[in-house]
Amino acid sequence: MKILAFESSCDETAVAVVEDGRRILSDAIASQADMHALYGGVVPEIASRKHVEAIAALTERALKDAGCGKDDIDAVAVTYAPGLIGAVLVGLSFAKSVAFAWGKPLVPVHHIRGHIAANYLAFPALEPPFLALAISGGNTLIADVRDYTDLRILGATRDDAAGECFDKVARVLGLPYPGGKPLDDLAQQSHGGVYTLPHAHVDSAELDMSFSGLKTAVVNLAHHAEQTDHPLDRAALAWDFTNAVSRELVPRAMKALALTGYKTMCAAGGVAANSMIRADLKAACEKVGCKLYLPPLSLCGDNGAMIGAQGYYEFRAGHTADMDLNAYATRDIDT
Ligand code: KG4
Repeated sequence: MKILAFESSCDETAVAVVEDGRRILSDAIASQADMHALYGGVVPEIASRKHVEAIAALTERALKDAGCGKDDIDAVAVTYAPGLIGAVLVGLSFAKSVAFAWGKPLVPVHHIRGHIAANYLAFPALEPPFLALAISGGNTLIADVRDYTDLRILGATRDDAAGECFDKVARVLGLPYPGGKPLDDLAQQSHGGVYTLPHAHVDSAELDMSFSGLKTAVVNLAHHAEQTDHPLDRAALAWDFTNAVSRELVPRAMKALALTGYKTMCAAGGVAANSMIRADLKAACEKVGCKLYLPPLSLCGDNGAMIGAQGYYEFRAGHTADMDLNAYATRDIDT
């Protein structure tokens, strides 16, 4: 079964064709990052306009790369939530038009379910149940993936997402947007241990996380250094910050693993590309004999193939939508 999939929830327009939820036939992506870099972050209105400009040509390219025409496509999958509402609406409206004009079923896909499903594309052996640590620019959560379409949140951030925190900290360190990768590179030039950063704890919700205090602490440190003319060890701060994020994420993921009794875990989302977090997860999983799946860097960030992968399983579960399907800026992964 071949699915034509659309993703437009943030600053990447992406269209892909995926076969049986596991094989990428094409994966066309148009990133707007350079445009938003001028402003130091995503400008929602610009994101929507750029999606409008890119999506038709990108669809033609995805179909051409896959060697597919209308008759080869069995269903149309699309991110309908969560994300920048104007941006999501562009992909959703376009996907609806294609589904309507071609008479194909329309399959709504939750963006974070898609991120987790990126692992199905990379790892043919991976099947639920397993634990997923989903860490992206807009969301950070630990999910019990009971089945392909039956996911439960075990813990989540109460405020900022890990990626949002990376981007803001990178900005105060003078790094370009999106800051996660440059900050990762900078951290690798140090061994840290210079700055003491706060650790967050949510009373009576030990798997929930908070990153806003950590973000503010780094911003204050940087501003204080500037105002007092003290040189900032940028690389050490990048290392200590990344280590602080990892210490929020990894122990909680391991705790959730113990609670579920699973022996399989995967990571997902843009921040899952971070080298220190990957190494820490690997070490922690090896220690307890847990099989860890880390998606290749190419599948960590937003892409259309992951929506096609999850779309396949949503379709198989009978989760299709009518033309009145709406877009949502926020939506739980387990609804
Ligand atoms: O998953 P994603 O592409 O978009 C969302 O669905 O939100 O994630 C983007 C986030 C950005 O915040 C970006 O800075 C971060 O992923 N990121 C990284 C790395 N590469 C991308 N964060 C830390 N280390 C990286 N190597």
